[in-house]
Amino acid sequence: MIKLLEIINKVKTEHKLSKQEIISLLNNNDINQELFKAADEIRKKYVSDEVQLRGLIEFTNICKNNCLYCGLRRDNKNLVKYRLTENQILDFASKAKSFGYKTIVLQGGEDDYYTKNKIIKIIKGIKSLDLALTLSIGEKTYDEYKAFRDAGTDRYLLRIETTDKTLYEKLDPGMSHENRLDCLRNLKKLGYEVGTGVMVGLPNQTIESYANDILYFKEINADMLGIGPFIPNEDTPLAGCKGKELTMALKVMAITRLILPDINIPATTAMESLNTNGRLMALQSGANVVMPNVTEGEYRKYYALYPGKICTGDTPVHCRSCITGKINSIGRTVSTNYGFRGNKNTK
Ligand code: 5AD
Ligand code: SF4
Ligand code: FES
Repeated sequence: MIKLLEIINKVKTEHKLSKQEIISLLNNNDINQELFKAADEIRKKYVSDEVQLRGLIEFTNICKNNCLYCGLRRDNKNLVKYRLTENQILDFASKAKSFGYKTIVLQGGEDDYYTKNKIIKIIKGIKSLDLALTLSIGEKTYDEYKAFRDAGTDRYLLRIETTDKTLYEKLDPGMSHENRLDCLRNLKKLGYEVGTGVMVGLPNQTIESYANDILYFKEINADMLGIGPFIPNEDTPLAGCKGKELTMALKVMAITRLILPDINIPATTAMESLNTNGRLMALQSGANVVMPNVTEGEYRKYYALYPGKICTGDTPVHCRSCITGKINSIGRTVSTNYGFRGNKNTK
């Protein structure tokens, strides 16, 4: 215990941990409060009390992949599928701007209906609104990533999901872990702010594997890092699995803040879906970003990655005031800048 408190103290100044140290911290639950408190202090020191809001548009729930954990998987026939038009997307983006959002996150399944040229048109439309733009549309070629960057995209999210190659390839049939790593390297090379992340609590995932995940985040110097508890979905092959490891997810997130002190870390929707205070707990354990949904209408409930997803019956305007209230209730404020890494207004 004393030894673990020393490790926590040391990482607060050095921002470095060995694999063994990470494993010890993850294995011991007596030091959780100290760990969360340390991550909270480092968050405050490096990225202030300002919380970055990102307006999330879930523009297609159609995906050509078949990830075993995900409700949007190709073989899930129990899902009403939808695609938003360019006009709908731009309408949601401009409404988000009117609610004070400075960043739009455009997220969808891997849906080839949206060709390179269609995506470029959407990017240009959103950028003409003077918003920062994050894309999260999966694995693309170098040329596509380059074209999206040239069209003005600022950031890209692509979770590695797990750094355990064997587990990844079992859970994401037909997909290659090496290709995913390549995609992340390409995105960095092209000058995006790059976000990655993992799920916590997948079947056969180990503490050692989380330690490798955290070391990987540091190695690639990720600019954004999303960590969410795996929540089993009834409409997938992993229906009977346990998952729901909120505390472990918070611990992985807190350690990530300590070793990458100035990055953007969201309090994820999956955390709040397991606990009504999940996002506030995360914001007090190292997180500094929230990504409220700005998609309107019935689409929200069809973007069913996992059961119990929050806000599916709410409107963008409701979520905006709800989240501001929650953020203010813990003595934090909503940022008015673009929220690049290090709480900067420009990259
Ligand atoms: N539980 C939690 N997170 C999930 N995701 C997909 N399915 C689930 C699930 N059942 C996450 C993946 C993906 C992100 C969009 O949602 O990490 O990258
Ligand atoms: Fe598609 Fe992403 Fe879901 Fe996998 S996790 S099925 S790539 S939407
Ligand atoms: Fe959507 Fe609270 S953020 S209801």
